[in-house]
Amino acid sequence: MPHRPYVIDRMISAKRIAARVEALAHEITAAFAGTDKLVVVGLLRGSFIFIADLVREIDLPVEVDFIEASSYGDTMTSSREVRILKDLRSGIEGRDVLVVEDIVDTGHTLFHVLNMLKARKPKRLEVCALLDKPSRREVPVKAKWTGFEIPDEFVVGYGIDFAQRNRNLPHIGKVRFTA
Ligand code: IMP
Ligand code: MG
Repeated sequence: MPHRPYVIDRMISAKRIAARVEALAHEITAAFAGTDKLVVVGLLRGSFIFIADLVREIDLPVEVDFIEASSYGDTMTSSREVRILKDLRSGIEGRDVLVVEDIVDTGHTLFHVLNMLKARKPKRLEVCALLDKPSRREVPVKAKWTGFEIPDEFVVGYGIDFAQRNRNLPHIGKVRFTA
């Protein structure tokens, strides 16, 4: 079904994203200094560009793994039910784990994923989210590292989609309906 027509207004430039990603990676490198291996867990699919840029700036031994959790489907409304569609390939017991998420919105996805991972007894479990919409929160979760706090707008780009489109935009923009 076709969507209402919309335009994308630029919100965060590729340059600002790159600078912020670099700064986050430096903080993460310092926070996990001395780790034998940091397991960086990306939440598919929205974090795929962020995690690719982030890990290249992290100066530590790193393993990359992914979880796919369903949340939004193809609509703009959040579902409170979270399903795991793809789980980690590796065990994380006793490991240093960094979960990388695109956006923390209501918080349901992260809440569910963190509870699941905590049960596996990692040595340390932290979260780095590119974007945070604190005004939308329904469950109490907070990323240790956040790229940008944004208002309650629907955003796309840099890996983030609207109905599986616009992930390939190099910047982050907000969706504005024109009809
Ligand atoms: P939560 O469970 O409500 O926190 O939803 C988190 C997930 O919803 C994010 O990982 C995104 O995949 C998706 N999401 C939330 N806000 C937006 C948005 O503005 N644009 C695109 N996807 C979003
Ligand atoms: Mg997501």
